[in-house]
Amino acid sequence: MILAADVTDTNGRLLLSRGQPIASKHLNIFKMWGVPEVQIQHAEGGDPEAGPTVDPEALRRVAQALQPVFADNDLAHPAVAEIFRQAVIHRSRRPVDPKPDRWAAPAGEAPSPAAGRDLRKKIRNRDIKLPEVPSLIFTLNDTIADPFSSADDIAQVISKSPGLSALLLRIVNSAFYGFPSRIDSVTRAVTIIGSKEVSALAVGITTMEIFKDIPKAVFDMQAFTHHSLACGVLARILAAGGNIRNTEQLFVSGLLHDIGRMVIFKYFPGQAGLMMSGASPGKSSLYDMEKAVLGFRHTDLAADLFEKWKFPVALSQNVVCHHRPLAAQDPAKAAIIHLSDIIAHSLGEGKSGEWRVPALDTTAWDKLRISPQTLSTIIPQALHHLGFLMTIFNGGD
Ligand SMILES: [Fe+2]
Ligand SMILES: [Fe+2]
Repeated sequence: MILAADVTDTNGRLLLSRGQPIASKHLNIFKMWGVPEVQIQHAEGGDPEAGPTVDPEALRRVAQALQPVFADNDLAHPAVAEIFRQAVIHRSRRPVDPKPDRWAAPAGEAPSPAAGRDLRKKIRNRDIKLPEVPSLIFTLNDTIADPFSSADDIAQVISKSPGLSALLLRIVNSAFYGFPSRIDSVTRAVTIIGSKEVSALAVGITTMEIFKDIPKAVFDMQAFTHHSLACGVLARILAAGGNIRNTEQLFVSGLLHDIGRMVIFKYFPGQAGLMMSGASPGKSSLYDMEKAVLGFRHTDLAADLFEKWKFPVALSQNVVCHHRPLAAQDPAKAAIIHLSDIIAHSLGEGKSGEWRVPALDTTAWDKLRISPQTLSTIIPQALHHLGFLMTIFNGGD
């Protein structure tokens, strides 16, 4: 592929000139400097990056099946239209089960909706015990908040957990990060990526570990991790595309955006069963069923947790406001998570228990300087990295 126009970073620095052939090493450089797309001179014979052609009849069938999943969205909106188009293409190539998630309710009587309503009070009064957060998270969050913390302090804290260090190094050495040389120690990662960024990443990984033990018979946590990771990957790439800094914080915000739902699945399986059975095509979304069954939503629970665990306010805001980004202190960042969640649902990448694609807040979309055309580049890019990151998170090679 040959560049059709000069490529510059967000500060206008020339990275590669027009007319140059693009090699794989350039893709990593573009990614590192937040370049979401470049213009290519198309060679005769078609685009070599294009995937296999899909039978038009298959596209039509998938598009028809997806319509009810998009019922809360306006398909005439340019961004929604592009997301829908990408979702149809993706789902046609890799079939996704369009049925809502099933919930294996635990044996015993289901709780009445009224019983759910005072749960949040009980949680706040500590009558119901929520997961004990590993002390490592408190230490890391303190380090993120401390302007005087040094790279050495952070590396030392993380290095105490060999499992965390190994996973973290595998992630930063993946193509998703695109560093040209291998990062072989946490100290080096902190030096190259930055102490706050590495701390945020370590917090995200450690937090996800807390919920890994939900039995598959109850809910498929691997599918949930898949949805969370899809949201994180999309958020990081969208942030770079929208010239938003703190891409790491957005990756972690995406990873943890539905943490409240993980708590509901793990600690309130009876209520979760009620919610899931009420949320189905033609009925309510799971988001609305949460309110009906529990009297609060997964985002409210996330606010309680993050306060208790002393998470950075900015990260907490991105998570707590991902269904209503305009309520956030920084609406553009919350809008990135909001949009990433919508795209992850649309593509059918993983499951969060929700069968409907959440409604796009079009005012929040307007705050992002991302064109619908950019989505057509960002979405395949995110899908490309997602598979490999899933393997890393699931402990594979
Ligand atoms: Fe959510
Ligand atoms: Fe979600």
